[in-house]
Amino acid sequence: MTVAGLVEALLKMPANAVVLMENGGGLSLVAGLDFIEEQGAGAPAEVILLPSISMFARVGGEVTIDRIVEAFYGRMDTLPEARTIRAMHAPDLGPVKNILKRYLSEWTGGPKLYSPEKGHPRLRQRHMGFAIGNPERDAWLLCMRGALAETVADDRARQELDAAMTKLADWMRNQAGNPHDAGVSRP
Ligand code: HEM
Repeated sequence: MTVAGLVEALLKMPANAVVLMENGGGLSLVAGLDFIEEQGAGAPAEVILLPSISMFARVGGEVTIDRIVEAFYGRMDTLPEARTIRAMHAPDLGPVKNILKRYLSEWTGGPKLYSPEKGHPRLRQRHMGFAIGNPERDAWLLCMRGALAETVADDRARQELDAAMTKLADWMRNQAGNPHDAGVSRP
């Protein structure tokens, strides 16, 4: 569901309804708390269940995804801490920026722009040719956290994205001693 769709549903909501939204495994109360408090245990006349809003929609769609990727590679291109991982990339960042934009669009629940062209992401396998240990993971996350801070205004969405990116970046570690090649389950 889009943000505009949610606003429309809330505007049409009857006074004696509660609105719940799926949130990936659970339900959040979106509206109707006043009604529940007033009525105590009294059942609402109507329960409206909304599908979840994608992270893509929450952060502002394609425009924000583009901004995240530009800010991310801008940092990788200039931060001294990112010199090692910048050197792993081609001199021209244009093509990989385009791929990351497509990947993140799909990964955040927006238009599927990656897999129709590239197939299953198999991201860890695609990174096996690059030596990624703790310092490389941390440099990648430093660039990404700066990019998220600059481009994603919604605090909660930013924190959720940060947590998910942190897991993903850790999953990319492929140097000796990493826990992922020792039978530990994938995040
Ligand atoms: C943890 C440290 C990471 C390092 C050092 C790293 C490095 C790289 C490098 C060197 C490339 C190839 C770029 C080129 O072709 O010029 C690449 C590609 C890519 N990376 Fe990462 N990466 C990391 C983590 C991640 C994470 C967490 C994501 C996802 C959010 C990601 C998404 C991608 C994608 C989508 C591509 C393009 C793959 C394709 O060709 O389909 N990377 N990465």
